[in-house]
Amino acid sequence: MKIAVPKERRPDERRVSATPETVKKYAALGFEVAVERGAGEDAAISDDSYREAGAVLCADAAETLAGSGVVLKVRPPLAACADAPGEIEHIPPGAIIVGALAALRHRDLLPAYARARLTVFSLELLPRITRAQSMDVLSSQSSLAGYKAVLDAAGEFGRALPMMMTAAGTIAPARVLVLGAGVAGLQAIATARRLGAIVSAYDVRPAAREQVESLGARFVEVDPAAVRDAETSGGYAREMSDAYRRKQREILAETLRKHDIAICAASIPDRPAPLLIDEDMVDAMRAGSVIVDLSVEQGGNCALSEIGRVAVRGGVRIVGHANVPGRLAVDASAMYAKNLFNFIAPMAARGDGGLDIDWGDELIEACLVARDGRIVHATLADERPAAEGG
Ligand code: NAI
Repeated sequence: MKIAVPKERRPDERRVSATPETVKKYAALGFEVAVERGAGEDAAISDDSYREAGAVLCADAAETLAGSGVVLKVRPPLAACADAPGEIEHIPPGAIIVGALAALRHRDLLPAYARARLTVFSLELLPRITRAQSMDVLSSQSSLAGYKAVLDAAGEFGRALPMMMTAAGTIAPARVLVLGAGVAGLQAIATARRLGAIVSAYDVRPAAREQVESLGARFVEVDPAAVRDAETSGGYAREMSDAYRRKQREILAETLRKHDIAICAASIPDRPAPLLIDEDMVDAMRAGSVIVDLSVEQGGNCALSEIGRVAVRGGVRIVGHANVPGRLAVDASAMYAKNLFNFIAPMAARGDGGLDIDWGDELIEACLVARDGRIVHATLADERPAAEGG
């Protein structure tokens, strides 16, 4: 079976879905791997290194995808538009496509998946259970995003983060507030601490307090009674009540005033990100403060953040970089490519370049979006008529 590694085509995407290391592993399992020329260029991986790992280099997407049985993607394929065919059109009917395809957000692609009879695995839908950890694309990418968010904040901040005692005077340590202590937020806390900042953090999930404190940060408490119901059985946050949100606003407004940097990393799967910092709260921050909004692509935790821009209001800089993991394309690709390999390897245990898929496996069931011309995911199947109709 041929595995295709096309170059990612979305404008802000620098990552690639396979590295020479994973190409070697696929080859050892009997697969033929085709890599589009230049696919790894933005992640500092040369065509030669793919070739040396055993891949066949192809001139363009059409050649890469022709005859493939499995397509490895970082982002959802581009849909066809007026002047160009979509990426799906090049994928052979019946092939398997695997990636962080954000199927719940990119519902527009569902009819094309079904038409091409693709088997579609959208890996961000994997449950956060121990067996899936090595395939967990959300964790590997969020972790890097949390780290990079702090570096981005430090880059925009006109002061140092650590305390410095010099003959020319003493510099006070910066105060960093992390909103949302999931995977990205916890990595942001650890990074800000390593840079010498004094760190506080806030989250609605009750389990977050202990994790925040174990990293040496102070936990900001809003309403301990209300947060008991804040977590779903899957470990994600719920949307909170209006009463909770009012109280949260009061406490965060007060807390923010005392901080120099806010890292926003709060989100709710398949919902708009919770709005935690409104315009008045930004206005109350000191000039020179920095907000980095990692949730900007889900609508933002800060009312003033804009995708792909650094907005400035009253001397406060609000950073809204898109695709933050893609800004660390080398490490992000290495980790992502391993996540994909770890997902595929159990199906390829025969080692003869074929796949045996256990359709009853809970991991497969959780992330399988389409198969045999049908949208099969529990959350999406009901929507098929609307998606196909519209
Ligand atoms: P996420 O990206 O969905 O959300 C980030 C954070 O925002 C979460 O901690 C969430 O509680 C928080 N949040 C949501 N609404 C908020 C609000 N109004 N105010 C403040 N914070 C708010 O979450 P992520 O990082 O993907 O992790 C989800 C869960 O899965 C976490 O509990 C994490 O510890 C867990 N996890 C478990 C793994 C496992 O293998 N067992 C692996 C990775 C994560």
